[in-house]
Amino acid sequence: MQIRLENVAARHPAARRDAAAALRGLSLQVAAGEQIAVIGPSGAGKTTLLHVLACALPPSSGSLQLSGRDPWQLPRRQLQRLRGELFLAPQVPPLPPRQRVVTSVLAGRLPHIGLWQSVRSLFYPTAIAQADAALARFDLSDKLFDRVDRLSGGERQRVGLARALVADASLLLVDEPLSALDPTRGQQAVASLTEAARERGATLVCTLHHVEMALRNFPRIIGLRDGELAFDLPAADVTPERLQALYAQHLHELTGPAPSEELPAAVSPHVVMHCR
Ligand SMILES: Nc1ncnc2c1ncn2[C@@H]1O[C@H](COP(=O)(O)OP(=O)(O)OP(=O)(O)O)[C@@H](O)[C@H]1O
Ligand SMILES: [Mg+2]
Repeated sequence: MQIRLENVAARHPAARRDAAAALRGLSLQVAAGEQIAVIGPSGAGKTTLLHVLACALPPSSGSLQLSGRDPWQLPRRQLQRLRGELFLAPQVPPLPPRQRVVTSVLAGRLPHIGLWQSVRSLFYPTAIAQADAALARFDLSDKLFDRVDRLSGGERQRVGLARALVADASLLLVDEPLSALDPTRGQQAVASLTEAARERGATLVCTLHHVEMALRNFPRIIGLRDGELAFDLPAADVTPERLQALYAQHLHELTGPAPSEELPAAVSPHVVMHCR
């Protein structure tokens, strides 16, 4: 799916009247099948951007087009159909506690199947092999029939990502998928996500606090700061100076291990890359 944002501003309905808009003057074009990481300090507007792209939050000004369609101009039924082509994976996946992992994963297909099939799938998972294959990508095959509330936080987060893989969506919007994962699992998870999106030609927009992971795994990086576009660059052009400027006054968010030698050349060892 293609994305075109022109001069978009967005404001949360619950935001204080005097608060600055969460997104301001944002223009962006993304081709079908592109993979983009969105980085920036806390409060920069990364999640808000995903909500705008997921048609969950309408722009307060400017325009959004998804493959040539302005979602907010569509009749309700067509808007629903368009939403079925998108998948938003929130930072904390909404997994009902007593549900089995297999059922939770297959819930990712619900927007794409009929009502009867969706009700039935809650009781008789019909696509177990599909769920199993998605879980295997995140090293979780052995948890297929476990209860969700008996998983660790990191396992739950990976179930949320497996759910994104079974969704037959052409735009995957993934919000901070690594917050509960150790660096090795985090790298595996991002690699699985980007590989799966590439296989099906889906567009992938992923917010990441881990700048190192973003530079390592995504060809294009968008830096957001105070609701505005700070930069939109190929990963190789994201210099330490740009990162310093992006995180200026938020350098406390840049904590963690020094970058490894495998990092792209653009990343200097003087910039500590692992946010939060
Ligand atoms: N539900 C909400 N109601 C009101 N204001 C909100 C809401 N969610 C976010 N905001 C405001 O919008 C701005 C952008 O928030 P957003 O969640 O998009 O930032 P973020 O870059 O995702 O931050 P983080 O890295 O902490 O997840 C912030 O100033 C925040 O206070
Ligand atoms: Mg966020």
